[in-house]
Amino acid sequence: MSRPVKTVVLPVAGLGTRFLPATKAIPKEMLPVVDKPVIQYAVEEAAAAGIERFVFVTSRGKTALEDHFDQHAELYATLTRRNKDTQLAEARAAELPTGHFSFVRQAEPLGLGHAVWCARQVVGNEPFAVILPDEVFLSAEGPVLKQLVGAYKKVGGNVLAVREVPHELTHRYGILAVGQDDGSIAEATGMVEKPRPQDAPSDLSIVGRYILQPEVFEHLEAFETGAGGEIQLTDAMAKLIGRQPFHGARFNGERFDCGDKAGYVAANIAFALARADLADTVRALSGGRLA
Ligand code: UTP
Repeated sequence: MSRPVKTVVLPVAGLGTRFLPATKAIPKEMLPVVDKPVIQYAVEEAAAAGIERFVFVTSRGKTALEDHFDQHAELYATLTRRNKDTQLAEARAAELPTGHFSFVRQAEPLGLGHAVWCARQVVGNEPFAVILPDEVFLSAEGPVLKQLVGAYKKVGGNVLAVREVPHELTHRYGILAVGQDDGSIAEATGMVEKPRPQDAPSDLSIVGRYILQPEVFEHLEAFETGAGGEIQLTDAMAKLIGRQPFHGARFNGERFDCGDKAGYVAANIAFALARADLADTVRALSGGRLA
């Protein structure tokens, strides 16, 4: 039986340079998709997958993230006095229970692998999930992390959410080398970060949802730099292959990269059109641009 996954690491210490100028003073994870910051989608996804501990890896200038998940007594008192019950419920929905969330700092943006390593003491010696919050999913079959936990219950060890990408785009992603593959769950025999198409071992890309065993911290500890001069999570994960079960699991859902301007705009349109309270109005206001 695999040990249950109760902790999620949410790396939010990046500089968000692809989204300047918006991200000069505001963390990109606080940009809203329709009416919720992207980070809140990630937290709700984790909670729906049974996660109870939330570890944010933050950096300078990210205090808005901490405030967002905390109580706001003054705002609540004002909304209560004005009988704004709906708004009060919306504001409180973002709260995380005291004692179940913590923040660790990454002093320098040395890469995703380094950000995850910064959470090691809070995570401890147990399996944990990682969510990259700027990747947001719309899925008819439930939250992606919940789907991943379903795969983990079958195969244990380390499991990554994966999907096929066009071969010419492998240089944008971490790519798996694949052994046995039943079309849903694929055994990983290797992985490489951002390979050129001619070097890519497959077209199966890693998306921003992971379930990992704590031994990955030992490999991150080497602080080896990889693609882009950053300490890459992919390189440390690759070292677990052959020592522990390691799989990629395909999932149902449409992915939006909200760290990218076009992806962010597409997410806003798709999420608005998926909302019963907004779809018709948004279509009407678009002047026929949205079918
Ligand atoms: P990204 O590469 O998408 O984020 O990293 P970034 O570096 O902020 O974005 P750009 O490329 O400059 O626009 C994926 C995730 O890893 C986190 C980011 O915050 C994001 O959630 N990250 C990345 C860290 O926490 N620390 C790092 O050193 C690098």
